[in-house]
Amino acid sequence: MNLIWPGSEENPMRLLVVADLHYSLPQYDWVMSVASDYDVVIIAGDHLDLSSMVDPNAQIVVVGKYLARLREKTRLITCSGNHDLDARSAHGEKISRWIREVPGVVTDGQSFAIGDTFFSVCAWWDGPIERDAIGAQFRADASQPKHTWIWVYHAPPGQSPTSWGGSRSYGDAELGKWIDEYKPDIVFAGHVHQAPFIKDGSWVDRVGSTWVFNAGHQYGAPPAHLIVDTDAREALWFSAAGREWVKLDEPLVRPVAKLRATPEWLTPADRPTGPAPA
Ligand SMILES: [Fe+2]
Repeated sequence: MNLIWPGSEENPMRLLVVADLHYSLPQYDWVMSVASDYDVVIIAGDHLDLSSMVDPNAQIVVVGKYLARLREKTRLITCSGNHDLDARSAHGEKISRWIREVPGVVTDGQSFAIGDTFFSVCAWWDGPIERDAIGAQFRADASQPKHTWIWVYHAPPGQSPTSWGGSRSYGDAELGKWIDEYKPDIVFAGHVHQAPFIKDGSWVDRVGSTWVFNAGHQYGAPPAHLIVDTDAREALWFSAAGREWVKLDEPLVRPVAKLRATPEWLTPADRPTGPAPA
């Protein structure tokens, strides 16, 4: 489904990106508290926590209310993760039904433009039918007019520091092939919680010309998060382990630069209150 976000001739400038909130209500509260400072809030999957004592259906009700309230504050984009699957498709593959039923939230299988920025929002796939549906989504979206193409996809690509788990990659090999084929500008992912915090892992990668991001998972508020400004052409990573940043128009250099000072374009509400830069 392609759509133009109502009243969205302007390009989005300021994006807040998180993933893997896993039913952390303090983290949802934090996202809620800052959401109105951003043109778009992206939650890249794994809203629920299957290991929680709280019944999944109760989690769905609570998270659904958070998403509906977030939707009132700004544009909200979210995809399902592997913890979000509550139903089976007609073909017997696991899907997230509830996430598609939250009113007004752009989610799995939807593609849309804000200005000349085009977003493809992808479901977690659990079998060949859903996987092929994502391939068809990218194929259709490739011919859409756009300046910038952004994918929201829970798992990062395989063989990337953003999917490194310490002993092996937990990424999605299919995604890597799709990136090679379609060369999106940016992929926002999550899924591999520890990748940004361990040796040989990272919150950022470059696959060909494509920027890939995985902010990672930490406990408590604020969650590890990204702030991306498409005008300033910068992506900033904030976490309990430190703050780093990249310039989107320059090559990725490792080690990734520490963010020593917050840039001018960050409004006061954006400015982090967490630990000082490492
Ligand atoms: Fe997760």
